[in-house]
Amino acid sequence: MSREQVFTLEATPLKYGRGAAGDAGWELERLGVTKAMLVSDPGVVAAGITDRVRQAIEASGIDVEVWSSARVEPTADSFAEAAAFAVDGGFDGFVGLGGGSSIDTAKVSDLIATHGGEIMEYVNPPVGEGRKPPSPLKPLLAIPTTCGSGAEATTVAILDIPEQKVKTGISHRYLRPNQAIVDPSLTESLPAEVVASCGLDVICHAAESYIAKPFSSRDAPDSPGDRPPYQGATPISDIWSAKALEYGGRYLRDAVAGDVEARGWMMLAASLAGIGFGAAGVHIPHACAYPIAGLKHEYQPAGYPDDHPFVPHGQSVIVTAPAAFRFTYDADPERHHRVASLLTGEPAEGIDALPDALTELMRDVGAPMGIGELGYGIEDVDDLVEGALKQQRLLVIAPREAGAEDLGAILRASL
Ligand SMILES: [Fe+2]
Repeated sequence: MSREQVFTLEATPLKYGRGAAGDAGWELERLGVTKAMLVSDPGVVAAGITDRVRQAIEASGIDVEVWSSARVEPTADSFAEAAAFAVDGGFDGFVGLGGGSSIDTAKVSDLIATHGGEIMEYVNPPVGEGRKPPSPLKPLLAIPTTCGSGAEATTVAILDIPEQKVKTGISHRYLRPNQAIVDPSLTESLPAEVVASCGLDVICHAAESYIAKPFSSRDAPDSPGDRPPYQGATPISDIWSAKALEYGGRYLRDAVAGDVEARGWMMLAASLAGIGFGAAGVHIPHACAYPIAGLKHEYQPAGYPDDHPFVPHGQSVIVTAPAAFRFTYDADPERHHRVASLLTGEPAEGIDALPDALTELMRDVGAPMGIGELGYGIEDVDDLVEGALKQQRLLVIAPREAGAEDLGAILRASL
């Protein structure tokens, strides 16, 4: 079988700047939308943001109905509730307004409203059936209100499957929003803990995609449709990921401390990283993050709604990153040095450079320093490994093959 020689870059058209959310109606009109479902969550409603955007949409003469029950860390059930609303509503366009969960909920609502079927049919195998949508969805406008998920730029919707104690996703290029509006003024009221978790997620997106194995190390697909959304690092994804790392290192600490301008830069970094990892993919820390978030629901994070215990996504990702990048170091030391150097703004060398840069940043922004703080002990490692191994879609682009023993060692080192 021959090696892959082709790579792609698809990016969501992006509109960035303070006040840009006021263009929501104009953008929907441009996309031909006359009746929109606006997906949001209770926190975004309470901050007054949902009303502002709804008014901006109505001012363009577009009908809009708000569905504001998007849940942080969505499940198939919460997706299904939104999808049922979408099917009943007869909408010809969708808006995801909020964190990654609201935007992902809008993606799935659009998918089911356009093509029907059950959510689990579309979920990535082996958890679901991996059904592919046959044609593009209805227009989707994404308006993030956090500085982290990059969901406005990606082709995935992540969900928690509590029955199987795993988090996984639906991923297809048609899920990518048709337009993103990134407005830094929407992040002003975000709690510091949320900014920290989101920002660490951004840094992992960028670091994992930059360190992913090169696209050219994959086998060529039999047909273009079989080319995976996560291709491995490409010369173009590197550009986006590197810039996001530079901004993350420079602005995350100030953003957590409440600096509005730094929050704006982190929002931009989230979108840049979203484009980078949307093409290249993420691997070991994200593969471990899904069982870390999915296996136990005991941790109650500060700064988040206290309606159900959960591990915020960014925290679940960052906790294994130092050990994961120590494991991958030998695959390409130069790339690990480069990531450390982009984060710190200084020359970096050696196996500890990147893990050290990450732990310093985690400490500075008050992140949990390991999976022990999230409620896990040595006795949970086997179950976590089992969950991480289900994320083959991610693990295949790790620069070094990570089997059960390797993942166990990474998780033990992350206790
Ligand atoms: Fe992430």
